[in-house]
Amino acid sequence: MTSPATRDSFSSGFGVLAATLGSAVGLGNIWMFPYQTGNNGGAGFLLIYLIATLLAGLPLMIAEISLGRTARTDPVGVYRKLAPGTLWWIIGVLGLISVLLIMSFYSAVVGWVFAYVGKSVGGGILTQDRGVLEQTFGALVSNPVAALGWQWLVLLLVGAIITFGVSRGIEAVTKRLMPLLFGLLVLVAAFALMLPGAMEGVRFLFLPDFSRIDSQVLLKALGLAFFKLSLGVGSMTIYGSYFRQEQNIPRTALTVMLADLTVSMLAGLAIFPAVFALGFNPAGGPALLFQTIPAVFAGMPFGHLLMVTFFVLTAFAAIGAMLSLVEVPVAIL
Ligand code: ALA
Repeated sequence: MTSPATRDSFSSGFGVLAATLGSAVGLGNIWMFPYQTGNNGGAGFLLIYLIATLLAGLPLMIAEISLGRTARTDPVGVYRKLAPGTLWWIIGVLGLISVLLIMSFYSAVVGWVFAYVGKSVGGGILTQDRGVLEQTFGALVSNPVAALGWQWLVLLLVGAIITFGVSRGIEAVTKRLMPLLFGLLVLVAAFALMLPGAMEGVRFLFLPDFSRIDSQVLLKALGLAFFKLSLGVGSMTIYGSYFRQEQNIPRTALTVMLADLTVSMLAGLAIFPAVFALGFNPAGGPALLFQTIPAVFAGMPFGHLLMVTFFVLTAFAAIGAMLSLVEVPVAIL
């Protein structure tokens, strides 16, 4: 364990915010939020997700960051330091196990996103032909060399950024990516909202249908709230340990929570209006991102440019989140 004096940390208030927001914003916003909302009845799910974020997510985020900043060490060491001689450190180990399990699918899906950045530039997926889109996606995920190759490329990239450390690696990258992500998302959402028939998608997102709500949906909304804010896995604890002493934790956590919700809403507004305007099924499962979205862009003006923008911004978002996931085992090691 390094002493507080020699530990790297975030160097500015904006850096803290960008990195923490970078951890929260990820595939959760652009991939999970839209398809879970779509599968679970739209706005009713959204309302429960909002309540879970506010009542469970926000207090937990404040607590995790505070633990990290108080102990200034890794997510297992935090408990050893603050509660010596007790078994609380097991919480840190459970977080580590969760991170490794999350990484096992997260890095694979980010690998697909990277592959789709290339495919969208090439333009081969800019089509409404379902057969071509299904075949393209199927070929990628069932080809171990391609799927593992992209996954490893993503892991190498994230590892390389982490090697530069907290301020020159994580902070420097997220400070640049986050504003770009917002800008690109607003652009895509604005185009989607201008399509004729787009209001159907807005209604789907914002008019609640409570008949779809059951205990499973409640659990999914709570799970998404945790996943979204990178809670329970040690990411917020380790980032908290890099917070500057003068940083206001509740205000930072609230800002991150609101900005993260804004990104999810923008992603919903980029996807659902276009899905409805062009007559696609909103409850498309994970294939929403890799099959429905390209088809939607194929039917839009400036579709090629917007599709490339969309996959690039998804890749940015995912990298920010992965940095905070990978930082957990790195810090422990
Ligand atoms: N919070 C990260 C995400 O939403 C893990 O993707």
